[in-house]
Amino acid sequence: MIRKAVLPVAGFGTRCLPASKAIPKEMITIVDKPVIQYVVQEAVAAGIKEIVLVTHSSKSAIENHFDKHFELEMQLEAKGKTELLEELRNIIPDDVSIISIRQPEALGLGHAVLCARPIIGDNEPFAVLLPDVLVDGEGLAQNDLAGMIKAYDETNSAQIMVENVPQDVAYKYGIVALEGDTPAAGQSAKITGMVEKPKSGEEPSTLAVIGRYLLPGQIFPILAETTPGAGNEIQLTDAIDTLRSKQDVSAYRMQGDTYDCGHQLGYLEATLSFARRHPKYGEGFRELLSRYNSEA
Ligand code: G1P
Repeated sequence: MIRKAVLPVAGFGTRCLPASKAIPKEMITIVDKPVIQYVVQEAVAAGIKEIVLVTHSSKSAIENHFDKHFELEMQLEAKGKTELLEELRNIIPDDVSIISIRQPEALGLGHAVLCARPIIGDNEPFAVLLPDVLVDGEGLAQNDLAGMIKAYDETNSAQIMVENVPQDVAYKYGIVALEGDTPAAGQSAKITGMVEKPKSGEEPSTLAVIGRYLLPGQIFPILAETTPGAGNEIQLTDAIDTLRSKQDVSAYRMQGDTYDCGHQLGYLEATLSFARRHPKYGEGFRELLSRYNSEA
């Protein structure tokens, strides 16, 4: 069973400026909680017990968000605000721990994951969740990460979450080539090649890597040897492509929806989607939507 997850959160989030100037982009709110809380809760829902944040000195708000705020809790208790107090105490369950380690230099996603090596070790499989990507598992019996973990347990093959993207945006992603047909949603197929940010027209398919990975600990020595690739950064995609020569790596086709929260329109779409069905604000939000619709 995979119990540990690495969340790289050291990046400056230049695509989210000015919102991300003084707060981490992962702390931008979707309805009533920061993006990172959705990602951590997705991991927890899939059975993850240990979350490793690979972070930067300017992003301590993320660690604070998952820490106990004793004075605040005392104050809420004294004022009888029990509902709010419970909500704060339940941000993460007691049996889940958040650990952080610094990425001293921005050398790429592969390098960020490598920074977690002293905590994860080379002998245990682990998950990687990129917090730019919100994965919405609404209506599914189990979320996609849980589906990937099940596939890993059954096959012992690394799992990389993928989805079809329009061909004209394939250059923004890691793109995979597969053996055989594209699997149905919720299924996996063997990867025969991977390329990070292919040149337009040279993509091996339109199946893009969507920010969720299950990798064996053996990826760490490979990452340590991986030289800078696309964008002159140490790319996780390149290390996974090397891993393929040693063991099977599979593409897991996602079932849920995804929002790119490294981008303003992605935030807005996620806000729309989550607000419409929010237990507390959903009704009011739907009224707002219809008012704005009728005024349009
Ligand atoms: C990263 C990965 C890329 C993946 C993308 C979306 O790129 O390197 O392979 O397709 O996330 O999950 P970035 O968006 O950080 O440039």
